[in-house]
Amino acid sequence: MATATTNQGLYYDPYDRDILEDPYPVFKRLRAETPLYYNEPYDFYAVSRFADVERSLVEKETFRSIKGVLLEMIQADIEMPPGTLIHEEAPVHTIHRQLLSRVFTPRAMNAIEPLVRDFCTRRLDPLVGTDGFDFVSELGQQVPMRVFGMLLGIPEEDQEAVRDHVEESMRTEPGKPQTYEGGFGSAEFYEDFLDYRYEHPGDDLIKRLISTHFEDENGTVPTLTRDEALMYLNVIAGAGNHTTNRLIGWTGKVLGEHPDARRELAENRALIPNAIDEILRYEPSSTQIARWVGRDVDFYGETVPEGSALLCLVGSANRDDQVFPDGDRFDIHRKIRHHLTFGYGAHYCLGAALARLEGRVVLEEVLYRFPDWEVDYDNCRLGTSPGVRGYEALPVFIRSSEVLPWPTSRLLATLPCRSCSTSKRFARRRCGTAAASTAVIPSSSTPRFTLTRVTNIPAGSTRARPWGRAWSNRSKRRWNRRITRSRRK
Ligand code: HEM
Repeated sequence: MATATTNQGLYYDPYDRDILEDPYPVFKRLRAETPLYYNEPYDFYAVSRFADVERSLVEKETFRSIKGVLLEMIQADIEMPPGTLIHEEAPVHTIHRQLLSRVFTPRAMNAIEPLVRDFCTRRLDPLVGTDGFDFVSELGQQVPMRVFGMLLGIPEEDQEAVRDHVEESMRTEPGKPQTYEGGFGSAEFYEDFLDYRYEHPGDDLIKRLISTHFEDENGTVPTLTRDEALMYLNVIAGAGNHTTNRLIGWTGKVLGEHPDARRELAENRALIPNAIDEILRYEPSSTQIARWVGRDVDFYGETVPEGSALLCLVGSANRDDQVFPDGDRFDIHRKIRHHLTFGYGAHYCLGAALARLEGRVVLEEVLYRFPDWEVDYDNCRLGTSPGVRGYEALPVFIRSSEVLPWPTSRLLATLPCRSCSTSKRFARRRCGTAAASTAVIPSSSTPRFTLTRVTNIPAGSTRARPWGRAWSNRSKRRWNRRITRSRRK
């Protein structure tokens, strides 16, 4: 088998634009021909098979995060400020991670779902009736930023500035590595938000972050220092915004290229959670995670010396046929035990549930209005940021006004109540805030409709209205006219 030192003709350059466009042929060759790869110009090793990537993420004493999780960061050999959770090691990491997991609880995530849905509704409703939209500018750049703002209690008018700050700090010159001459990115930007929260505690993540006591490695029970809390905000903003933004872009791209899967999802929303995981596997936002090698270690009879930088090629591992049969095929029915897009082991992504939730809600709301689209390739733009791969612009043409079957019972089960946040069937009637818009359609009937056409509404029915408060009056009038027409029939 070819090894790190005999890999002539096979070159993996993480900054090469052509490889960035489609790294999968190179990944395939790396897995088959050089499972331990050494790149001389940039002086790094890379592992590409699922088992090796998984091992490198799990064995944290050997493959260390302390010098950074990006290749450039490790090579710049900069000092990490306190509070950069993702670069910390046990016991400090374990303690800080426990602290943060108390903030990212399933309860907190569930509470955020109706807000995400409401926000998507506000973005997407005005697009009904247009020829197309951009998955990134309309959704990818918006939803994670708003969610982050909601979690942290950042005022709505400042949320865009936070997003732009994150995007700017992560953008690199095409084809060039990121530089860290000034050290790790400063968290100064968040000072005002944090200080405001010290003075005016709200009910949000920042408040919990600065006020929760935890037992530290010395047995004392402090709260995070101001500097640590600032750095946490910096890390969470970077970790959560950009990556989820890219997931939403990939959703538009991948489903744009797989119309059959898209159609199936539009007809059966129960398949959406697995489809989101398949998108995460197939086109991960982070194609590689770097580690600093803490002691000499062997792969395939070759030694990777202590002090080396090792790239764990997640994008390659996720397509390894040994674990995902026919890994280059996109399949929304694939049974995925676990992929490596959110990492694995001690540093497994703390925002994974949140990212999945955002991806799912965005896709549900998109499919609800636009079951058919085509990617506008001429105007797509792939972004350049270290470790994160995805689109800065992903416009699509809306292709559909066609009718999809959608059983009433399922529709009602998925429509959340916008007032009391439950998503149970007939929730609107239960909370009594919007009883007039509750559907009373016999469950045996299966009306066929999309936003652009409604048929088969039984006489005497009132329809559940699929819009939030933000629907324009024009759209509401169009919807109501259709209902009236269908009743007359
Ligand atoms: C599609 C979206 C996302 C992807 C692909 C992603 C990916 C990752 C990966 C690969 C890691 C592990 C890095 C390592 O092992 O060195 C990680 C860690 C982390 N992620 Fe995410 N992430 C996403 C969304 C989020 C969100 C929405 C948040 C929170 C708002 C978040 C917060 C974090 C944090 C705090 C860590 C550090 C955990 C630790 O070191 O213990 N991520 N993420």
